Amino acid sequence: MRRAVCPGSFDPLTRGHLDIIARAAALYDEVVVAVLHNEAKSGLFTPGERVAMIERAVADLPASPSSARGVADVRVVESSGRLLVDLCREVGADVIVKGLRGEADYAYELPMALMNRDLTGIETVFLPCDPRFVHVSSSLVKEVARYGGDVAPFLTPDVLDAVRSRLRGDPA
Ligand code: PNS
Repeated sequence: MRRAVCPGSFDPLTRGHLDIIARAAALYDEVVVAVLHNEAKSGLFTPGERVAMIERAVADLPASPSSARGVADVRVVESSGRLLVDLCREVGADVIVKGLRGEADYAYELPMALMNRDLTGIETVFLPCDPRFVHVSSSLVKEVARYGGDVAPFLTPDVLDAVRSRLRGDPA
Protein backbone atom coordinates (compact mmCIF):
# COMPACT_ATOMS: atom_id res chain seq x y z
CA MET A 1 0.00 0.00 0.00
CA ARG A 2 1.63 3.24 -1.15
CA ARG A 3 0.08 6.33 0.40
CA ALA A 4 0.87 9.92 -0.56
CA VAL A 5 0.04 13.18 1.16
CA CYS A 6 -0.80 16.24 -0.95
CA PRO A 7 -0.43 19.17 1.45
CA GLY A 8 -1.37 22.78 0.99
CA SER A 9 -3.39 25.68 2.28
CA PHE A 10 -5.96 25.33 -0.54
CA ASP A 11 -7.56 28.73 0.10
CA PRO A 12 -9.31 27.89 -2.14
CA LEU A 13 -8.70 24.71 -4.15
CA THR A 14 -7.88 25.54 -7.80
CA ARG A 15 -8.03 23.37 -10.90
CA GLY A 16 -4.23 23.32 -10.72
CA HIS A 17 -4.39 21.69 -7.28
CA LEU A 18 -7.06 19.29 -8.48
CA ASP A 19 -4.92 18.22 -11.42
CA ILE A 20 -2.02 17.39 -9.08
CA ILE A 21 -4.33 15.47 -6.71
CA ALA A 22 -5.78 13.46 -9.62
CA ARG A 23 -2.33 12.64 -11.00
CA ALA A 24 -1.08 11.64 -7.54
CA ALA A 25 -4.13 9.38 -7.20
CA ALA A 26 -3.10 7.64 -10.42
CA LEU A 27 0.41 7.04 -9.04
CA TYR A 28 -0.36 5.94 -5.46
CA ASP A 29 -2.87 3.61 -3.83
CA GLU A 30 -4.26 6.34 -1.64
CA VAL A 31 -3.91 10.10 -1.52
CA VAL A 32 -4.51 12.07 1.66
CA VAL A 33 -5.13 15.73 0.87
CA ALA A 34 -3.98 17.69 3.92
CA VAL A 35 -5.37 21.16 4.53
CA LEU A 36 -2.69 22.88 6.57
CA HIS A 37 -2.28 26.25 8.12
CA ASN A 38 0.38 28.38 6.46
CA GLU A 39 1.67 30.95 9.02
CA ALA A 40 2.33 33.44 6.23
CA LYS A 41 -1.23 33.47 4.81
CA SER A 42 -4.57 34.64 6.17
CA GLY A 43 -7.57 32.73 4.91
CA LEU A 44 -10.69 33.57 2.91
CA PHE A 45 -12.14 30.20 3.99
CA THR A 46 -11.95 28.34 7.27
CA PRO A 47 -10.00 25.07 7.21
CA GLY A 48 -13.32 23.20 7.58
CA GLU A 49 -14.80 24.99 4.56
CA ARG A 50 -11.71 24.13 2.51
CA VAL A 51 -11.95 20.48 3.49
CA ALA A 52 -15.63 20.36 2.47
CA MET A 53 -14.89 22.02 -0.90
CA ILE A 54 -12.07 19.58 -1.66
CA GLU A 55 -14.22 16.61 -0.64
CA ARG A 56 -16.91 17.66 -3.11
CA ALA A 57 -14.34 18.21 -5.87
CA VAL A 58 -12.52 14.88 -5.44
CA ALA A 59 -15.81 12.97 -5.37
CA ASP A 60 -15.98 13.64 -9.13
CA LEU A 61 -12.47 12.38 -9.93
CA PRO A 62 -12.26 9.30 -12.13
CA ALA A 63 -11.25 6.01 -10.54
CA SER A 64 -7.56 5.21 -10.44
CA PRO A 65 -6.66 1.90 -12.16
CA SER A 66 -5.95 0.22 -8.80
CA SER A 67 -9.11 1.44 -7.07
CA ALA A 68 -11.42 -1.28 -5.79
CA ARG A 69 -14.16 1.23 -4.96
CA GLY A 70 -14.63 2.61 -8.46
CA VAL A 71 -13.71 6.12 -7.36
CA ALA A 72 -10.32 7.70 -6.83
CA ASP A 73 -8.88 6.78 -3.43
CA VAL A 74 -8.61 10.27 -2.05
CA ARG A 75 -9.48 11.50 1.42
CA VAL A 76 -9.20 14.94 2.90
CA VAL A 77 -8.00 15.86 6.38
CA GLU A 78 -7.37 19.07 8.24
CA SER A 79 -4.16 19.42 10.18
CA SER A 80 -3.25 22.51 12.13
CA GLY A 81 -0.79 23.24 14.89
CA ARG A 82 1.62 20.48 13.95
CA LEU A 83 4.24 19.54 11.45
CA LEU A 84 3.38 18.02 8.10
CA VAL A 85 5.80 15.17 8.81
CA ASP A 86 3.83 14.27 11.95
CA LEU A 87 0.64 14.04 9.91
CA CYS A 88 2.47 11.90 7.33
CA ARG A 89 3.60 9.54 10.10
CA GLU A 90 0.09 9.36 11.58
CA VAL A 91 -1.56 8.45 8.27
CA GLY A 92 1.28 6.13 7.22
CA ALA A 93 2.31 8.13 4.13
CA ASP A 94 5.47 7.16 2.21
CA VAL A 95 5.70 10.34 0.23
CA ILE A 96 4.66 13.98 -0.05
CA VAL A 97 3.47 15.08 -3.50
CA LYS A 98 3.54 18.71 -4.60
CA GLY A 99 3.06 20.46 -7.93
CA LEU A 100 5.68 22.78 -9.36
CA ARG A 101 4.68 25.70 -11.58
CA GLY A 102 8.19 27.02 -12.12
CA GLU A 103 11.40 28.21 -10.54
CA ALA A 104 9.72 30.30 -7.85
CA ASP A 105 7.82 27.23 -6.63
CA TYR A 106 11.01 25.19 -6.67
CA ALA A 107 12.83 27.81 -4.59
CA TYR A 108 9.92 27.81 -2.11
CA GLU A 109 9.43 24.05 -2.01
CA LEU A 110 13.03 22.80 -1.96
CA PRO A 111 13.89 23.90 1.61
CA MET A 112 10.64 22.38 2.89
CA ALA A 113 11.31 19.12 1.05
CA LEU A 114 14.84 18.94 2.46
CA MET A 115 13.71 19.88 5.97
CA ASN A 116 10.93 17.27 5.89
CA ARG A 117 13.45 14.64 4.75
CA ASP A 118 15.88 15.64 7.51
CA LEU A 119 13.09 15.38 10.09
CA THR A 120 11.79 11.91 9.28
CA GLY A 121 13.33 10.70 6.02
CA ILE A 122 10.12 11.24 4.06
CA GLU A 123 10.68 12.06 0.39
CA THR A 124 8.88 14.74 -1.62
CA VAL A 125 7.92 14.02 -5.22
CA PHE A 126 7.37 17.04 -7.46
CA LEU A 127 4.94 16.84 -10.36
CA PRO A 128 5.28 19.41 -13.13
CA CYS A 129 2.11 21.44 -13.28
CA ASP A 130 -0.15 21.23 -16.31
CA PRO A 131 0.80 24.20 -18.54
CA ARG A 132 -2.84 25.32 -18.49
CA PHE A 133 -2.45 26.18 -14.82
CA VAL A 134 1.11 27.48 -14.69
CA HIS A 135 -0.07 31.00 -13.80
CA VAL A 136 -2.85 29.92 -11.42
CA SER A 137 -2.54 30.35 -7.67
CA SER A 138 -5.13 30.68 -4.93
CA SER A 139 -3.81 34.16 -4.09
CA LEU A 140 -4.05 35.42 -7.68
CA VAL A 141 -7.49 33.89 -8.15
CA LYS A 142 -8.74 35.68 -5.01
CA GLU A 143 -7.25 39.01 -6.12
CA VAL A 144 -8.72 38.78 -9.62
CA ALA A 145 -12.11 37.70 -8.27
CA ARG A 146 -12.10 40.49 -5.66
CA TYR A 147 -11.88 43.10 -8.42
CA GLY A 148 -14.51 41.47 -10.60
CA GLY A 149 -12.30 39.46 -12.99
CA ASP A 150 -13.47 36.14 -14.40
CA VAL A 151 -11.85 33.25 -12.55
CA ALA A 152 -14.29 30.57 -13.77
CA PRO A 153 -11.65 28.76 -15.88
CA PHE A 154 -9.48 28.15 -12.81
CA LEU A 155 -12.03 26.81 -10.32
CA THR A 156 -14.68 24.13 -10.15
CA PRO A 157 -18.21 25.59 -10.32
CA ASP A 158 -18.71 24.77 -6.64
CA VAL A 159 -15.54 26.60 -5.56
CA LEU A 160 -16.37 29.50 -7.88
CA ASP A 161 -19.77 29.91 -6.19
CA ALA A 162 -18.12 29.80 -2.77
CA VAL A 163 -15.53 32.44 -3.72
CA ARG A 164 -18.15 34.78 -5.21
CA SER A 165 -20.42 34.36 -2.23
CA ARG A 166 -17.64 34.96 0.31
CA LEU A 167 -16.39 38.06 -1.52
CA ARG A 168 -19.98 39.42 -1.61
CA GLY A 169 -20.01 38.99 2.14
CA ASP A 170 -22.83 36.44 2.19
CA PRO A 171 -23.30 34.78 5.60
CA ALA A 172 -21.44 31.44 5.89
O1 PNS B 1 -0.24 25.82 -0.14
P1 PNS B 1 1.07 26.18 0.49
O2 PNS B 1 0.92 27.46 1.25
O3 PNS B 1 2.18 26.17 -0.50
O4 PNS B 1 1.42 25.04 1.56
C1 PNS B 1 2.51 25.17 2.45
C2 PNS B 1 2.33 24.15 3.58
C3 PNS B 1 1.01 24.42 4.31
C4 PNS B 1 2.32 22.76 2.96
C5 PNS B 1 3.53 24.30 4.57
O5 PNS B 1 3.54 25.60 5.09
C6 PNS B 1 3.47 23.25 5.69
O6 PNS B 1 3.87 22.12 5.49
N1 PNS B 1 2.93 23.65 6.86
C7 PNS B 1 2.75 22.74 7.99
C8 PNS B 1 3.75 23.04 9.13
C9 PNS B 1 5.12 22.45 8.81
O7 PNS B 1 5.32 21.26 8.72
N2 PNS B 1 6.08 23.39 8.60
C10 PNS B 1 7.46 23.03 8.30
C11 PNS B 1 7.65 22.74 6.81
S1 PNS B 1 9.30 22.18 6.46
